[in-house]
Amino acid sequence: MVSPVIWKHMHLYPGGAMSACIEQAAMVIEHGRIAWVGAACELPARYADLACEDLGGRWVTPGLVDCHTHLVHGGDRAGEFGQRLAGVSYETIARQGGGILSTVRASRATDEAGLFRQAADRLEAMLAQGVTTLEIKSGYGLELEAERKLLRVARRLGTIYPVTVYTTFLGAHALPPEFHGRADAYIDEVCQRMLPALVDEGLVDAVDVFCERIGFDLAQTERVFEAAQRHGLPVKIHAEQLSNSGGTRLAAQYRALSADHLEYLDEDGVVAMHAAGMVAVLLPGAYYFIRETQPPPLAWLRKHSVPMALASDCNPGTSPLTSLPQVMNMAATLFGMTVPEILQAVTVNAARALGQGDRHGHLAAGREADFAVWSVADLAELPYWMGRPLCQRVVRGGRTVFHRHDR
Ligand code: NIG
Ligand code: FE
Repeated sequence: MVSPVIWKHMHLYPGGAMSACIEQAAMVIEHGRIAWVGAACELPARYADLACEDLGGRWVTPGLVDCHTHLVHGGDRAGEFGQRLAGVSYETIARQGGGILSTVRASRATDEAGLFRQAADRLEAMLAQGVTTLEIKSGYGLELEAERKLLRVARRLGTIYPVTVYTTFLGAHALPPEFHGRADAYIDEVCQRMLPALVDEGLVDAVDVFCERIGFDLAQTERVFEAAQRHGLPVKIHAEQLSNSGGTRLAAQYRALSADHLEYLDEDGVVAMHAAGMVAVLLPGAYYFIRETQPPPLAWLRKHSVPMALASDCNPGTSPLTSLPQVMNMAATLFGMTVPEILQAVTVNAARALGQGDRHGHLAAGREADFAVWSVADLAELPYWMGRPLCQRVVRGGRTVFHRHDR
């Protein structure tokens, strides 16, 4: 049995409103869970003699939650990046058979061990920057075998690494070349063959669709949502990234967990999200990387109290990004999000976007002891610094799983 430990000489952001912050806090961890948390001066006498971990006056936050990633894929698209720098748009490259489809070719050609190694490398970078929970989508296989391979790797990452992984089936990410000109037939394949088989194997926690001019239309999206519903799975959507196609409103009818990207979302869509209790997942890495100029509608999201989450969207085409602290910086500078909004967006709201608000993103008595320790004097430093490693320690289930020695 592991003896309880008291973590002290720390300041705490437990997740949620900033008013919940506790300066000079203490936390008692027992059996991987928080047994007690509060102001150090109120520590119950029964804990006074426990072994101590001194955090040197650092800030503690919940382990960060990256609620939208395409972590498992073969290769990268640095070459395509060069093309885009020479003036070819993301959409044009996609229409020419590059873009997502070039990563599909690379992912199909890489075996499970290779995909695992490549993804593990990216995952280690995320972990060193405070992440303890992440979502991983499929979507670069676009045929049963290859989608299975990606999801199996995602599950395995969650068993080998000290992170909790939630998987999302994104079979409707792009039209595979075998189905050229037959998008409806591919959606049949997604709904009737791929989804049932992958669900049977326990590989799917949620279902996503790329609803866009270069993705799938509303009717096709709806068919995928209906299939997900038949399997009792929650849905989410990549929507309004390049145009306002109404995907978010449709997703609201299916009580989606989240709609993600949202640069072109209109106010009606925001109202629908609020009514359906959805989370808006904003992805400033993709916005930045494809040099989008229209930011998501923050004013409407605030006006209608739609919770905002932030995620890396880690993917080889539009967001080769593994740092949530960097995402926080971009959310501040590119979208004008405030420090309290940003902190909620990578903790409680991101957990909610995964349908796991009861489990992750918040530190309280009884919860799992998943937290990150930051070498900062003020929480505003998290979105402030760029490229500086601030995460000093990551603790999962009470156990230190990453430790960087600094002053
Ligand atoms: O989230 N929107 C589609 N999926 C990814 C892009 C994937 C890619 O270009 O490989 C995204 O931006
Ligand atoms: Fe994405």
